Amino acid sequence: MTIWANVIGTGGYLPATIRTNQDLSEMVDTTDSWIYERTGIKSRRIADEHETASSMAEVAARQAIEMAGIDAEQIDLIIVATGTPDRVYPSTACLVQERLGIKHCVGFDIQAACSGSVFGLSIADQYIKTGFAKTVLVIGSEVCSRIVDWSDRSTCILFGDGAGAVLLSASDQPGILATHIHSDGGYEDLLYCPNPQAAAAHKQDEASVINMRGNEVFKVAVNTLGRIVDETLEANGLQHSDIDWLVPHQANTRIIAATAKKLGMSMEQVILTLETQGNTSSASVLLAFNQGVRDGRIKRGQTVLMEAFGAGFTWGSALLKF
Ligand SMILES: CC(C)(COP(=O)(O)OP(=O)(O)OC[C@H]1O[C@@H](n2cnc3c(N)ncnc32)[C@H](O)[C@@H]1OP(=O)(O)O)[C@@H](O)C(=O)NCCC(=O)NCCS
Repeated sequence: MTIWANVIGTGGYLPATIRTNQDLSEMVDTTDSWIYERTGIKSRRIADEHETASSMAEVAARQAIEMAGIDAEQIDLIIVATGTPDRVYPSTACLVQERLGIKHCVGFDIQAACSGSVFGLSIADQYIKTGFAKTVLVIGSEVCSRIVDWSDRSTCILFGDGAGAVLLSASDQPGILATHIHSDGGYEDLLYCPNPQAAAAHKQDEASVINMRGNEVFKVAVNTLGRIVDETLEANGLQHSDIDWLVPHQANTRIIAATAKKLGMSMEQVILTLETQGNTSSASVLLAFNQGVRDGRIKRGQTVLMEAFGAGFTWGSALLKF
């Protein structure tokens, strides 16, 4: 009998503080219209000083658990994707486990930058299929605002904070149909954030902030996401018309529109959160999925294609029947 990983709950958390393009125009030399036209972003959320990846993840996780109607103790694996963990260790997943009061499970973090939640879904799927785990919590949680250089207008306009969660459970009914994940370490120079300890040891003047060659990242992202969409459909014998919803990583509307066009999908079939959330890195796909599920657009039985691209470069897709 085939075992599938079925979605039984979703959740999301966004900090209360809103930073608009207008706010940014008072911090760096930019304008609301420049940012909106180039990216599709109007505002983003910023964590307050007490909020962390684990505190935001906890709220998103509790929502997913409540939607699923399960006891948190039933969770046997917690995977947290984050590039902005509370601590180097313990892992954010262990901190979330403690916050949720779960004693009997295992938790670990993964680092795949903005592709983190899709990588997390892929890992969860493998563990459920092999029978190692029955109920898996996958979270993407990011405090990007703490690694953004707020004086760099080419990057500070893009990122925001938040957490998204999905709860998966073993089932004999179709759930995650396939995942495809990739990485290519040859692009470190285009998008990276130094580790503070290593930077201090090796290059005293290198601040631990996001460094990006945006224009070059843009081009690789458009091409790569086009390829992952083709790969996913072909490997699973699907046509463009079989996909009900595209849930993309929210980096730039122009990148998302290019992927939707490749799929022959209208923007009405794309879940977009970018305008009010910016790029929340590993949280963005799960935040968008949660929004689509909770506002009733994504319905049971529909086919959803998630895709993401991030530093590394890393990229991937998750195809699922909701
Ligand atoms: C960052 C991004 C919006 C920049 O847009 P772009 O059209 O590529 O712009 P460029 O970097 O070519 O810069 C064009 C000009 O705008 C200027 N500029 C950059 N940021 C600006 C800002 N916030 N406001 C006004 N002008 C800005 C540049 O200095 C440059 O000026 P110049 O022509 O005088 O040198 C775009 O490249 C992008 O979204 N890339 C993908 C980034 C991404 O998604 N990263 C995460 C991947 S997970």
